Amino acid sequence: MLDKNSIQSLRGKYIGPSFSVSYDKPLHIIRGEGQYLFDSDGKQYLDAVNNIQHVGHCHPKVVEAAKNQYEKLNTNTRYLDETIVNYAKDLTSKLPRGLDVCFFTNSGSEANDLALRIARHYTQSKETIVLGAAYHGNLSSLIEISPYKHHGPGSVAPPDFVYTIPMPDGYRGKHRGDNAVNGYVGEVEKAIYHIQKNCNKIPVFIAESLMGCGGQLVLPHGFLKRAFDLIREVGGICIADEIQIGFGRMGSHFWGFETCDVIPDIITMGKSMGNGHPLSVVVTTREIADAFNNGIEYFNSFGGNPVSCAVGHAVLNVIEDEGLQQNSEDSGNYLLNQLNKIENSLIGQVRGQGLFIGIELIKDHKTLTPAGEDANAIVNAMKDAGILISADGPDHNVLKIKPPIVFTRENADELVFNLTSVFNQQL
Ligand SMILES: Cc1ncc(COP(=O)(O)O)c(C=O)c1O
Repeated sequence: MLDKNSIQSLRGKYIGPSFSVSYDKPLHIIRGEGQYLFDSDGKQYLDAVNNIQHVGHCHPKVVEAAKNQYEKLNTNTRYLDETIVNYAKDLTSKLPRGLDVCFFTNSGSEANDLALRIARHYTQSKETIVLGAAYHGNLSSLIEISPYKHHGPGSVAPPDFVYTIPMPDGYRGKHRGDNAVNGYVGEVEKAIYHIQKNCNKIPVFIAESLMGCGGQLVLPHGFLKRAFDLIREVGGICIADEIQIGFGRMGSHFWGFETCDVIPDIITMGKSMGNGHPLSVVVTTREIADAFNNGIEYFNSFGGNPVSCAVGHAVLNVIEDEGLQQNSEDSGNYLLNQLNKIENSLIGQVRGQGLFIGIELIKDHKTLTPAGEDANAIVNAMKDAGILISADGPDHNVLKIKPPIVFTRENADELVFNLTSVFNQQL
């Protein structure tokens, strides 16, 4: 087995330098089980950050489903096969009525790119409204609509058909406190007005109902519903990006959009859907799907293949069979409650829903100056203590907690105990 240093130098030689490695001293993880990871020295880590391995690392039922299907058949969607239809039927049974047509893809980016194509075809318009600090994927079409990327270092200006609403952050954003909802709804109104004035087109709106790269940001209550209403008043289409937050992670609800009391026209899912296997999907209505069926075949070499569908179906069944949505609610509420008890002047806001939690760090409670360096130091100190978390948000000052949803109350206690002592050492 290659040692850590050899891997690092081979990475330097053979792997593109834009791929980053987490932590000041990178980890060499060789095994995963449930909510735990193990490094090459045998040290165990509590994984409190990996929302892709949703039902736990290497879940035996998911591994078994992949193995069984691989042994039987793996091909593409040009043959009749029951895995894809059985999965699509069960998956869409979790969604509001009418959202029942699936296009299976292989990554969140691919799903969002296809969702944009479908929406833009339906509206005959490229004009797209996005939230500040949003991230929707790594394809060229998505960097254009991801302020998190096109606004950061090495950035290029977005095309003029992209309209960015300031990140709807009621704590440190452009509109705060009681003014937040009206302020951000006003920004959506302004964007729609500009679109109509500039080119008299219909907007496509894409949003996460709880923003991941934005720093586990809970949108001001009522914002998304009013934004959807405004978009629809002018005939626009609303896409919900559920790639980070779907599949029971929210606890109280199976989907993030349900927490905001909206029903999207198009939904994209990925990450957790395959528990680490590349699998994603666009789900929409029959009407929108039929409009997209304009003669150009949609072919995807891997999307919807039997192995991917067997894996996705197994993940869905495990969530149900093991009561993991309920666990997410129980452990998530408990963790949020315990985190709120930590007293430290760096803590500006603790927020989240289910097992999708953020702790925003600030240097000063008056100026709300972001404490990005402290966040980075805390993430590294937590790693040394055996707990994996990350930092994100436009100022990289939000500690992110989004573990596999098998995370328990005992895990929450362990995390809070260690975080408290790291905070105490930090000051
Ligand atoms: C909200 C959101 N949408 C889309 C994506 C892109 O997904 P993928 O990395 O699978 O292409 C991500 C990835 O982090 C994401 O967080």
